Amino acid sequence: MPWLTTHPLLRKALTAAACLLVGSATAVTASPTATAAGTTLGTAAADSGRYFGTAVAAGRLGDPTYSAILDREFNMITPENEMKWDTVEPARGSFNFGPGDSIVNHASAHGQRMRGHTLVWHSQLPNWVGSIGDANTLRSVMNNHITTTMNHYKGKIYAWDVVNEAFADGGSGQHRSSVFQNVLGDGFIEEAFRTARNVDPSAKLCYNDYNIENWTDAKTQGVYRMVKDFKSRGVPIDCVGLQAHFGAGGPPSSLRTTVSAFAALGVDVQLTELDIAQASTTAYADTVRACLDVARCTGITVWGIRDSDSWRGGENPLLFDNGGTKKPAYGATLSALGGGGGTPGGGIVSGTVYTLSAAAAGRVLDQPAGQNGNGTPLQVWDGGGASNQKWRADRNADGSWTLTNTASGRVLDQPANQLGNGTRMQVWDANNGANQRWRADRNGDGSYTLTNVASGRALEIPGGQTGNGAAVQVWDANGGANQHWNFR
Ligand code: XIL
Repeated sequence: MPWLTTHPLLRKALTAAACLLVGSATAVTASPTATAAGTTLGTAAADSGRYFGTAVAAGRLGDPTYSAILDREFNMITPENEMKWDTVEPARGSFNFGPGDSIVNHASAHGQRMRGHTLVWHSQLPNWVGSIGDANTLRSVMNNHITTTMNHYKGKIYAWDVVNEAFADGGSGQHRSSVFQNVLGDGFIEEAFRTARNVDPSAKLCYNDYNIENWTDAKTQGVYRMVKDFKSRGVPIDCVGLQAHFGAGGPPSSLRTTVSAFAALGVDVQLTELDIAQASTTAYADTVRACLDVARCTGITVWGIRDSDSWRGGENPLLFDNGGTKKPAYGATLSALGGGGGTPGGGIVSGTVYTLSAAAAGRVLDQPAGQNGNGTPLQVWDGGGASNQKWRADRNADGSWTLTNTASGRVLDQPANQLGNGTRMQVWDANNGANQRWRADRNGDGSYTLTNVASGRALEIPGGQTGNGAAVQVWDANGGANQHWNFR
C-alpha cells in the first residue's frame, strides 16, 4: 500500500492504537499540513474562503471552557458590547478602550480576525450624546467618536459596523427616529461612512441591521435602496450585515434571494449575529446554505458560544449547550459548511481508528462505557474521544468494511437473521459474516452511508431522535441526514 505513505491521514494512522502500518512509515516525513481539514466551524468555512465567527464577551475569556471552544472553532470575533459607544466614550472626549483591547489581544494571540461593532447606533448610547440638540456639535461628536475609535484599532479590524440599525421596523422603509436622524437628518449615515473611510481605508465598512433578511419586507427594501444609492454615488460602503436573529421557524425562505440581491449591488454580505430560537438543525443548515450559495457572502458569525452566553435567555439559540457540549445544530452547521468529512481527498483508510459521527445529531457511535460483552446494544452519545467511541475500519476482500470497537475488540453487528427496519445494532465477536460487513458510500456532504451487506439497510439513528442515548439501528436507505456518518 505505498500510496498510504503520502496520504493526509498518515499522522492519524500512525497514532492509531491498532495501527498495522508503523513498519512502513519510518521512511516518511509527515507534512505539517497533514491534518484533516474542515473538522471545526472555522476550518470548514475557510475551505470555501469564508470565516466563521462568534460574539465574545471580554468577561468570559477567563472561563477555560469558553475560551477553549472559542479558539478551537472560531476564526472571527465580534465584541458583544465592548466597542459600543457607552463603553468606549462614556463621557465626551473620555475614551476607554480597555475591554475592547482585551478581546483584540486575545484575537491576535490566537490568529482570529475582528469585526468592529459598532460606531454609530441609537442604542447603548450614553445620555450625553442623546441630549445634544445642536447639529454642528453632534456632527463633530459623531465624527470624533468614529475617528478616535477607528484610529485606536487601525489595522486590527477586518470590518467595521459603521452604522447599526438605522432603519425603522414596520412598513415605512424609512430611517428610524434617533438623535442622529433627528438632529443631523438623512445624511448622517453617509457622513459616518465617509469619515470612516478616511480614518482606516483598509477596513471594510458595513451597514448592519436586523429584520432585513426577508426580501419583500419594507425594511429590507429600504436598506437595499440605500446601498444601491451609496454605490451609485460613490459613498464608501463595502458590506451589509444581516444580523439573522431568527425565531424558532428559522430563516425566511427568501434569505438566499436577499443575500444575493445585496451582493449583486457590489458589496460583501455577512450574517453577523446569527442565533435561532431552539436551534433547529434544519434552520441552521438552511441559513448556512443560503450564505454558501452566494459567492460574496463572506462569513457567518453566531451571537455567542453556549446557550448560557446568549442574550436571548431561555431560547437556547446557539450551537453549544450550557456545558459547552456540541448541540445537534452544531453538527448540522458543520455539515452544511462542508466540514466533518473524515478523509479529505481520500476515502476511509484501512487500519485507521475513527469516531463515527452521526451527521443529524453531532453525536458519535458509542458502545456504552464499560459494556463490552457480545450483544451490547449501540447508541449515539456526545463525543469524548474514549476508546468505547473509537472504531477501527478494516477493508474486506469484497470492498466492504468491518468496524471494530477499540474498547471491546468486538465488531459492529446487525444481529444475525434480524434484517428488518428498526433492528438495533450491537457488538459481537468478529466472524466475517455478511451481517458484520458494511458498504460505505460517500455522500455529497463528505459523509458516508453505511449499508449492511446482509440486510441491504442503512445504519441510522431514528429520525428526530438526536439526543444522547438515541438507538443505532438499520432502516431502508432514504438519503436522510440521520443516515449520514462522518469518519473523523
Ligand atoms: C446585545 C448584546 O448581546 C447584549 O449583551 C446587550 O445587553 C444588548 O446588545 N443587535 C446588535 C447587538 O447589533 O449589538 C446586540 O447585542 C443584539 C442586537
